[in-house]
Amino acid sequence: MKFRAVRPADAAQADVTIVPLFDDRQAPKSLARGKRAIVERLAGERGAASLYNVFTHVGGDKEGRVVVVGAGKRAEYDAERARNIASAGIKSLWKTDAKTAAIYVDGTIGEARAVQAAVEGAHFAMWRPEAHRSKPEERRLPPLSTVSIVAEGNVRDAIRRGDAVGQAVNLARRMANEPANKMTPTIVAQEARALAKEAGLDIEVLDRKKCESLGMFSYLSVAQGSHEPPQCIVLRYRGRGGKGFDLGMVGKGITFDSGGISIKPAEGMHHMKADMTGAASVIAAMTAIAALKPKVNVIAVAPCTENLPGGGATKPGDVFTSMSGKTVEVINTDAEGRLVLVDGITYAQREGATRVVDVATLTGAIAVALGNHFSGLFGKPDSFVDEVRRVGVEAGDRLWPMPLTDEYRDEIKSDIADLTNSAGREGGAIKAAAFLDAAVEDGTEWAHLDIAGTFWSDRDRSHSPKGPQGPSVRTLVALAERYART
Ligand code: BES
Ligand code: MN
Ligand code: ZN
Repeated sequence: MKFRAVRPADAAQADVTIVPLFDDRQAPKSLARGKRAIVERLAGERGAASLYNVFTHVGGDKEGRVVVVGAGKRAEYDAERARNIASAGIKSLWKTDAKTAAIYVDGTIGEARAVQAAVEGAHFAMWRPEAHRSKPEERRLPPLSTVSIVAEGNVRDAIRRGDAVGQAVNLARRMANEPANKMTPTIVAQEARALAKEAGLDIEVLDRKKCESLGMFSYLSVAQGSHEPPQCIVLRYRGRGGKGFDLGMVGKGITFDSGGISIKPAEGMHHMKADMTGAASVIAAMTAIAALKPKVNVIAVAPCTENLPGGGATKPGDVFTSMSGKTVEVINTDAEGRLVLVDGITYAQREGATRVVDVATLTGAIAVALGNHFSGLFGKPDSFVDEVRRVGVEAGDRLWPMPLTDEYRDEIKSDIADLTNSAGREGGAIKAAAFLDAAVEDGTEWAHLDIAGTFWSDRDRSHSPKGPQGPSVRTLVALAERYART
């Protein structure tokens, strides 16, 4: 799907015109007179201004098809609303044969912001989860090929950003949606290679032998119960040249989490095919960064493996040495995410990352604490956590800060080793964060996003169908831009 900017005067050619209508029932001023009359009539007849209500005028007249999307109260208009309006409009075309659409974007919140959000929303509406239906018509998206953004100013750059980010979020969703038998660590690595080639990113995949030589035995302890070989994917983007990385992104890549010997109950276990959402997010974010070309150096690390209870699996009580040199007693093999992440975090720092942001479907406890609408945000120092929150929320992710203090760090000490990977249910998400913190070196700025409550939705949301949601991709891309040299 291609996006382009058009002036109001040139908006007439599209098969469909999508128009937001706020509670003031004023059609956009730049709308041509004939369409304006249609919008105003629809608004009067049917109260089209209620939120995300969609009314379609399919006239035999020369005005063509007009889709009016209820935009709610004008006073509440923000970027998220712009995303949802565009998404609702595009979704209404699923069952039509429209090939081109023109979207009027209300620019009162700043045209660039509104346009970027609308393009993201349009992309979100073009994602479907039914990838494995055998009948093509049941997995096919609408034939929409070009979307024109109707705007007054220069919005080319905003379109470019919305396009890169929207595609990246959909990519993360697609990868997370794949069943575990079709998204093994080896397949994730293959996909990453293909994406890196297309995007011009540098890629390296560390196999088991290489990881052994680096001392990543915490990560490898998770892989030993599976027949699928571990694959630690490393992507590098050097937009400013020179040494080091201004940002390291580490994504949990458990392509299936059975719990290992500490096996999970059957109910809902299939969702654990998406326990690699963190890995998918950092890979997807890198494709957007490569497309946007900020002057910044970014490294992404995605340690991928299955967590299965095979004959070689880790047993509760086993002890391993992580890449940092710290020893870990594995009390619960289902607390595997932190085991793979610490070695990813250490690797990123050894490569020269001065800021590290990790993304993980890490704990059920974060969903108990925050429900399904906010990801938990942890880290240090506070100034960095604040910045990640501000940048991430501005980009459209919902993040909520969680505490992390020395009391929690004390509680994850093992009786026989440095750390235990499981220290009781209370404050489970915080103790998991404290475990990761043990791999963060002095001077590194670090943030941890626990997306175990937000990675999946059991119901359709305004701009996305139920299924994988792709949280945190937008935060990561926005952070890379934040640290770019201007
Ligand atoms: N991948 C799970 C966390 C999870 C749960 C993600 C539900 C998404 C939805 C993680 O590996 C896990 O099993 N965590 C345990 C930790 C416990 C054993 C300390 C948990 O949350 O129960
Ligand atoms: Mn687990
Ligand atoms: Zn897990």
